[in-house]
Amino acid sequence: MDTVTQIKQKLDIVDVVASYLSVKKSGKNYKALCPFHSEDTPSFMVSPELQIFKCFGCGEAGDIFTFVEKVEGVEFTQALEILAEKAGVKIERKQYDPNYKKKNKVFSINQSTTEFYHHLLLNHKSGKKAMDYLVKERNLDNKTIKAFKLGYAPNTWDTLYRFLNKKNFSDENLILSGAVVPRRGKKGFVDKFRGRIIFPLIDVSGKIVGFSGRDVIGRDPKYLNTQETLVFNKSAFLYGLEKAKVAVKKEGAVFVEGQMDVIKAWQNGIENVVAASGTSLSPIQLKIISRYTKEITICFDSDDAGLGATARALSLADPMDLEVKVALIPEAYSDLDDYLKKSLGSAEKAIKNPVPIYDFYLVNALKMFSKDTAYGKKKIVDYLAPIYAKISHNVVQDHYVKQLSEEVDVSEDVVRTSLKAPQKFKPGEKEPFDEENKVHKEVKKAPEDYLVALLLKTELDMAKTFLYKLESEDFTVERNREVFSELKKLADSKNKKFDIKYFTEQLKPEYKEVVLEMYLWDFGDLASNKNLFVGELESTTSRIKKDTTKRKLKKISERIKLAELEKNTSLLEELSKEFNELSKQLV
Ligand code: CTP
Ligand code: MN
Repeated sequence: MDTVTQIKQKLDIVDVVASYLSVKKSGKNYKALCPFHSEDTPSFMVSPELQIFKCFGCGEAGDIFTFVEKVEGVEFTQALEILAEKAGVKIERKQYDPNYKKKNKVFSINQSTTEFYHHLLLNHKSGKKAMDYLVKERNLDNKTIKAFKLGYAPNTWDTLYRFLNKKNFSDENLILSGAVVPRRGKKGFVDKFRGRIIFPLIDVSGKIVGFSGRDVIGRDPKYLNTQETLVFNKSAFLYGLEKAKVAVKKEGAVFVEGQMDVIKAWQNGIENVVAASGTSLSPIQLKIISRYTKEITICFDSDDAGLGATARALSLADPMDLEVKVALIPEAYSDLDDYLKKSLGSAEKAIKNPVPIYDFYLVNALKMFSKDTAYGKKKIVDYLAPIYAKISHNVVQDHYVKQLSEEVDVSEDVVRTSLKAPQKFKPGEKEPFDEENKVHKEVKKAPEDYLVALLLKTELDMAKTFLYKLESEDFTVERNREVFSELKKLADSKNKKFDIKYFTEQLKPEYKEVVLEMYLWDFGDLASNKNLFVGELESTTSRIKKDTTKRKLKKISERIKLAELEKNTSLLEELSKEFNELSKQLV
């Protein structure tokens, strides 16, 4: 008997459909809300007798194979694999994969790990603190915690290892899974995740490919992820897709930055959300999502890194025949999770009514350059002109030209002429480094970049004083944080030799060029006068420290507003005190 027939004998289409949709019996048939189009009353019918489905709304129809192909957005062979697995039927092809057995072992280790950590979070005293954090601070409910199989990895050396070892998994396979690592320089193994909330990384077929762990005991890094393994390819993984896939088919996909954003959206009934967690959005991830939908909404964090990531995502998606929009998160909120928590209604609206990418670019341009100077206006128009020039519909183009001309107070004619000028650089591409006015602009636009540039140019012994005054939280841009911590490490080390070339080699590759460029900035008079230079360093450092305090104050005042709304007087009192204490630092 061939595989297809075997599978069809073992599986009932009703069960298969029911594993994706909620179905109701209706006479001899079952009905459901169609996953392939939007509807409020069910017109998707499944017949157990005929083993077929048909939607009377959109016309989609077929057997279990067609159903899985469409709902998973895969080709026949992949549908065959998925169904063979469900049916427990072996397909020959798999046995040709030399790693087939090892992969299966890793999946089963990951499964046991997930259950173990989940149990500790929900039932064990070691998980209490993490559970409190998730429930009280992150406002997750039990149903959500269970749906995402969240867990807790205790802050011990080898609790997981001992558990898995008792289950007779071999050390070799445990290492392959990435959940345990060999002890440095000694015999034995330790757990990779310790003192962390565990987010199992569930692939589209429901298998656990790895883990992401969020610190809850105050240790860096905030998130730790499973390294690439036989079953985990991080640039092809989308967090949340397993739960989101049906909704994504109907409503398009919303990309967010983190796991918490996905989870909180889901808890609030927004199901079409996925995250490229742990990496910036990759072309493979976009390719994968494009099998489910052509409508993409980018909803990244509201900080500079988020805006940059959005611009990159847009330029990646541009040639891919996707319809891309942006859900803008107001600056007062850090990410979707935060936005949902503090202003549920507006957050939902932002997701449901994303803006065209052109609005995003305008917001981005106004943030990058100042519209108060002639030079800034030029930069804004130069940045937007090539983007607007590509808008094919005249009415739409006219709308944006008008908006831009009003925004920067330049005549529409001038803007229109710029659209015809040669394109300087593409959206998402780094702004070319401009010789004129560079320090001026940076001082004005990004004091923290300026500070980093100053620090890079300061002799290490001198820089040390300032490096100790500063903290990671004083930098809002990831790149600057990295440069800062590397500089600090260097200043701490015995071998105090600073070589810019070697230094930038140690940074994340995507930072290298920008940091080299910062190093090349010309500081004019400052460069040749040590006193002036140190003075500048001092005033910039204290300004940055004040900015940090202001950011903290802003956060507290938001919490105060909430506490007022909730009439939580004790919290209010506590927050006001905190606010007053911090404010003192500003004078
Ligand atoms: N991330 C990571 N490694 C880090 C920091 C972040 O892999 N050191 C990934 C995580 O998947 C995280 C996502 O990037 O979910 C977004 O990071 P960030 O915005 O810093 O975290 P939040 O999601 O806001 O984290 P939380 O809400 O838990 O504080
Ligand atoms: Mn967050």
